[in-house]
Amino acid sequence: MERFVVPQGEFALATTSSTQHESLRAWDAADEYLLQQASELGDLSGNLLLINDRCGALAVALAPCEPSSLGDSYVSQLATTANLERNKIDLSSVTLLGSLDPLPERVDYAFIKVPKTLALLEDQLLRLAPSVHSSTVIVAAGMTKHIHNSTLALFERILGPSTTSLAKKKARLIFVTPHEAEIALKPLAVSSFTLDPGNIRVKSYPGVFSSERLDIGTSFFIDNLPDQAGQIRIIDLGCGNGVVGLVLALDNPDADVMFIDESFLAVASAELTVQSNLEEHSQFEFLVGDSLGSLRSHPGIADASVDLVFTNPPFHDDHALSDATAWQMFSDAHRVLRSNGQLWVIGNRHLAYHAKLKRIFGNCDIIGSNSKFVVFRATRKPAPVQHKADDFS
Ligand SMILES: C[S@@+](CC[C@H](N)C(=O)[O-])C[C@H]1O[C@@H](n2cnc3c(N)ncnc32)[C@H](O)[C@@H]1O
Repeated sequence: MERFVVPQGEFALATTSSTQHESLRAWDAADEYLLQQASELGDLSGNLLLINDRCGALAVALAPCEPSSLGDSYVSQLATTANLERNKIDLSSVTLLGSLDPLPERVDYAFIKVPKTLALLEDQLLRLAPSVHSSTVIVAAGMTKHIHNSTLALFERILGPSTTSLAKKKARLIFVTPHEAEIALKPLAVSSFTLDPGNIRVKSYPGVFSSERLDIGTSFFIDNLPDQAGQIRIIDLGCGNGVVGLVLALDNPDADVMFIDESFLAVASAELTVQSNLEEHSQFEFLVGDSLGSLRSHPGIADASVDLVFTNPPFHDDHALSDATAWQMFSDAHRVLRSNGQLWVIGNRHLAYHAKLKRIFGNCDIIGSNSKFVVFRATRKPAPVQHKADDFS
């Protein structure tokens, strides 16, 4: 277990979820720089808000300040909880908030890790702005290569004049002085696009995968989905804005469809997408989960109970390439599929999902391919019949 040594103390931290890239550390130089800065601010009395604390490094170190921690990732919430427990810190000292939860009315300190997408940052800053007052201390941190002029411009426009620090271990801080007077800000709108044929409306909150237009891989997946299948149970795993699950729901009006994603905004987007296209929603569920592992006790997702699982797995964890989530999704799907149930997967050609699916399912068919993408289908084979010794006597 790696030790995280910062002015606030020495802590044991790990990436805990099986879908997090195992070789990535649970913190980066930007966390260290931010905590160094926090220690120089002295006594942090008042409401502290952390944003995008990937594995809880900030929450663990600053737990005595009883922070709230806002983020869009359920996997990050699981990692934060595990790291608090690992360091024997009372879980109630940190309030975990998903993207759509209300923020504290007044924030005195905001420590922000710059996220991967500018749209998510914009949405978070717009949500934060009403809680900021003229003496709120706002410090953001990120790796130098992820902080651009456009990042600074966003802080300037929404929160106030911003300057950057010198780089330290390739990380940089952004110091923001809140605007003196209140400025009128419009919350970021939900984006929307329409699919032809069918006039399907797809809705997405900011930062959700391919929120402005249909991704070309998803489009190829949709072109290769199976024909109608009747009264069945389907999972859209890593649903994003829910477009795949919605197309399946429209093609299979008697099916139960579960939309699952680790992003709070993705799950909320999938729900909006379904509501915009279908009047009756009782056979749909919208669940935040870390693949299917964290939903083991959910009644609709028992082992050997699902007919079809569809996924377009992510191949990045934070900024690093990783196949950890794909592996976890394939083995979770194998567990929840009933005998002869099928997992349908789309991936870029270079990702070699074929080999993984063969290892887990013992089979894998290619349903369609083009120069960039391949659609695979793996079938859960019936478990071999267990014979008792006296069956042969
Ligand atoms: C490539 S996108 C696909 C989105 C959508 N299915 C589509 O094709 O437009 C992958 C999705 O997987 C989600 N995801 C990443 N890690 C996950 C995890 N551990 N559990 C569930 N979903 C996850 C991401 O938030 C993202 O929405």
